[in-house]
Amino acid sequence: MGPSGCGKSTLLHLLGGLDGPTGGELWLDDKRVDQLSERGLANLRRREIGFVFQAYHLMDELTARENVELPAILARRSPLQARTRALELLDQVGLADRGNHLPSALSGGQRQRVAIARALVNEPLVVLADEPTGNLDSAATLEVLRLFDHLHNSGLTLVIVTHDERVAATADRIASMREALSSTRYD
Ligand SMILES: Nc1ncnc2c1ncn2[C@@H]1O[C@H](COP(=O)(O)OP(=O)(O)OP(=O)(O)O)[C@@H](O)[C@H]1O
Ligand SMILES: [Mg+2]
Repeated sequence: MGPSGCGKSTLLHLLGGLDGPTGGELWLDDKRVDQLSERGLANLRRREIGFVFQAYHLMDELTARENVELPAILARRSPLQARTRALELLDQVGLADRGNHLPSALSGGQRQRVAIARALVNEPLVVLADEPTGNLDSAATLEVLRLFDHLHNSGLTLVIVTHDERVAATADRIASMREALSSTRYD
């Protein structure tokens, strides 16, 4: 948690290898992430990290199931494995009957649960979620929190950026970030 502009999204992008640091070292488990090649970073993002974004970032032309399958296929799982895993995950997030729907035919809460299933498809070490409930109403927020709770209880590590006290209250640890010291001046 922390004020707007303090660098929460930047930190998640760094943790997940979407961005590179201009200084310092970045470690994931025993791996030095800031020294990985582009290919190494791509593998890291594909196999070890799951991302969940505020605005879902699903592919509009793909069905829910195909969205969940896609990272598995990119990680060179067989089509059958990818499909089996996607169907399991859709079931786990309560969308077994929505696999053939396009994102446009799903509610916001359902889209976010598809995105969470997609984040899990390659069995990541950690899921990074940037304001995952920021676009959701209270009921859909509760559904996503219940799902996160279930995933956490089954051993998954989640790092969640949130402005919502109710979301933060579900976490084991809360890290607070302060505003950057060198903020932009307008005078
Ligand atoms: N790609 C970029 N290049 C340079 N500066 C950036 C870039 N992305 C963000 N910033 C700057 O870095 C700072 C941190 O931005 P960041 O998006 O991480 O904040 P945040 O804490 O996620 O804010 P919010 O709560 O509004 O999402 C801001 O000053 C922002 O303008
Ligand atoms: Mg942000």
